[in-house]
Amino acid sequence: MRIIRTANYQEMSQAAANIITDKVRSAGKLTLGLATGSTPQGVYEQLISNHDRNGTSYRNVQTVNLDEYINLAIDDPNSYHSFMKKNLFDLLDIPAENTAIPNGMADDLDRECERYEELIRSKGGIDLQLLGIGGNGHIGFNEPGTLFSSRTHIVSLAESTRQANSRFFPSLEDVPKSAITMGIATILDSKEILLLASGEAKAEAISRLISGDCDESFPASALKLHENVTIIADEEALKYI
Ligand code: F6R
Repeated sequence: MRIIRTANYQEMSQAAANIITDKVRSAGKLTLGLATGSTPQGVYEQLISNHDRNGTSYRNVQTVNLDEYINLAIDDPNSYHSFMKKNLFDLLDIPAENTAIPNGMADDLDRECERYEELIRSKGGIDLQLLGIGGNGHIGFNEPGTLFSSRTHIVSLAESTRQANSRFFPSLEDVPKSAITMGIATILDSKEILLLASGEAKAEAISRLISGDCDESFPASALKLHENVTIIADEEALKYI
């Protein structure tokens, strides 16, 4: 795993955005795997600003998101569909039909998981996957104990994840208890992976990712099995390294 150490969140975001925009500009066709949450927001701001200033076009880019809550309406302000529209898709020239997010409102959720895997395959797989990391080492919503062989599946969210995400909801009770997430094997099929981390709250997880064992009790450690992973993290997140 390559590590890029940055001074702060702003530089972490800029470094990741540079890698992404270089690919968008040079590749004829590209499938990006995208994440939600606080970590990638600065990256998305930089992509939008680069699109506005330099005209970087996303017309030929396909995107697939990592995850979505179950039983939260697609237009709920806290759905990941809403997050992506507001923070990225509505501010770029990407055609809506090129973007994909699991449907947590599907009648048949098992079928939806299969459909999502097929859809990723039909897009030719993921060229570059952007990841954040949970304090407990989750990637996507793959909580500790998830099999490294997992494909897109339904998960019960860990209490620590619900608590961390309750900052976006009126109260903890409003945070959904389950989600659909790409599986770990799905993520590992990506050709290249960028994992971002900022702030002291991520320092222990980053230290365990870099120095700890590779096992299913710590989902992000699966990334050690992949040959093209770059961690872009700021000083605070790298404070034990
Ligand atoms: C979000 C996702 C999660 C987050 C993680 C960190 O799509 O897949 O794994 O990346 O929970 O969240 P933040 O960035 O809010 O600290």
